[in-house]
Amino acid sequence: MIVLGIESSCDETAAAVVQDGRIVRSSIVARQYELHEAFGGVVPEIASRAHEEHILPVLRDAIAQAGIDKRDIDAIAVGHRPGLIGSLLVGLSAAKALAWALSVPMVGVDHVHAHLYAGMLGRDVPNFPALGVVVSGGHSSLYRMDSEMKLTRLGATIDDAIGEAFDKVAMILGLGHPGGPKIDALASEPGANDRAFEFPVSRLGKESLDFSFSGLKTAVLYTAKGRPAPPALKGKPPLPKQEVPELTDDRKRDIAASFQRAAVRALTLKVGRALEQIGACHTLIVGGGVSANTLVRSEMARMAEEHGLELIIPEMVHCVDNAAMIAGLGTKLFESGQRDDFSLSALPTAAC
Ligand code: KG4
Ligand code: ZN
Repeated sequence: MIVLGIESSCDETAAAVVQDGRIVRSSIVARQYELHEAFGGVVPEIASRAHEEHILPVLRDAIAQAGIDKRDIDAIAVGHRPGLIGSLLVGLSAAKALAWALSVPMVGVDHVHAHLYAGMLGRDVPNFPALGVVVSGGHSSLYRMDSEMKLTRLGATIDDAIGEAFDKVAMILGLGHPGGPKIDALASEPGANDRAFEFPVSRLGKESLDFSFSGLKTAVLYTAKGRPAPPALKGKPPLPKQEVPELTDDRKRDIAASFQRAAVRALTLKVGRALEQIGACHTLIVGGGVSANTLVRSEMARMAEEHGLELIIPEMVHCVDNAAMIAGLGTKLFESGQRDDFSLSALPTAAC
C-alpha cells in the first residue's frame, strides 16, 4: 500500500511516500527557520504564507524521489491537528485536492500521535503494552500504549512544553531559533559544566505524571540576566535590580549544560514514575523534536536498559516534524478502516 503523507502544522512543510506503513520511499521537508529567526519564535501568518509557497514543490519532490507516478498513490494521510490553523489548512487543502483529483481515500492524522509512530518506521511492530513519551516544541506527554493505535494519556505539561523551554532558554542566552539543537551543541562542548548551576526540577507532588517547565525557565532567566528589582515600598528609595556576572561564552555554556541536565532530569523522573505506575510494560517509545537531543537519547537508552525494555526512538531525520510519520500512522488508520471526507477540518488541539 502506497500512502502519501502531508504535514504542515507549524513551520515545516513536508510530504512523504511510505510503503506498507514501514518503508520510507521518500521524505521531503522544507524548513522556514530563517523567516522566524528575527522574531524569536514562529509567526503564524508568515508560516502559512511560506507553506503556500513550499507545498507544491515539496509534493512534486516527494513523488519524484519515491520513484512513483501520482497514479500509484493508494491513499493520502494528512496531519490535521494540532497546530496553527492557517498552516494546517495549507496541507489539508492540498490533501483534499489531491484525494479528489486522484479519486483515492484520505484520512486525518493526529500529529502528536504520529510522533510516537516515527520510531516504528523501518522496523517490526514492537511488543505492547508500551510507555509512549512525546517530547516536542508543543507537547511533553506520557501515554500508555496498548497498540500502535490505542493510546491513554497519563500526564502532560501544565505550562511550557520541554522543547519550548529549550527554545526560550536559547533566546535568553542569545543563541537564536530554534534553540534546542543550539543548547544541545553548547552543552556537549568540552569543558561544559552541567553542575555549575542547580536549577529546579519540578516534581508536582509524589504521584503526578504531569510536567512543568516554566519555573526552570524563569530560574535560567534570573541566573543569566538577574532578578528584577522588587517594587519600591512607600517612602523608601527603590531597590536596585540584582547584579549578575557578565554573560560570557563560558557562562552561557555552563548555563546551557545545567539547564539541559535539569530539563532531562524532569523527564527521566516522570518516565521512571510512569513505569512504576503502569506495571507490565515491554517497550519504551519516544518521539518528537526533543528526542533528537543527545542527553535525552542517552538517558532514555539507560532507562530502557535498567527496566529491561526495548527502546524505540526515531532516527534523527524523523525526530523533528516530517510527513513520513504521518503517512506511516495514516496507513495503520486506513488498514483499520478509517476514512475522512472533505468536511475534515483543521483543529488546534490534539486528539490524544
Ligand atoms: O516535534 P517538533 O519538530 O515540533 C513540534 O511538534 O513541536 O519539535 C520541535 C522542537 C523545538 O522546540 C526544537 O528546539 C526541539 O524540538 N529540538 C531539540 C533538538 N532538536 C530539536 N531540543 C533539544 N535538543 C535537540 N537536539
Ligand atoms: Zn511535531
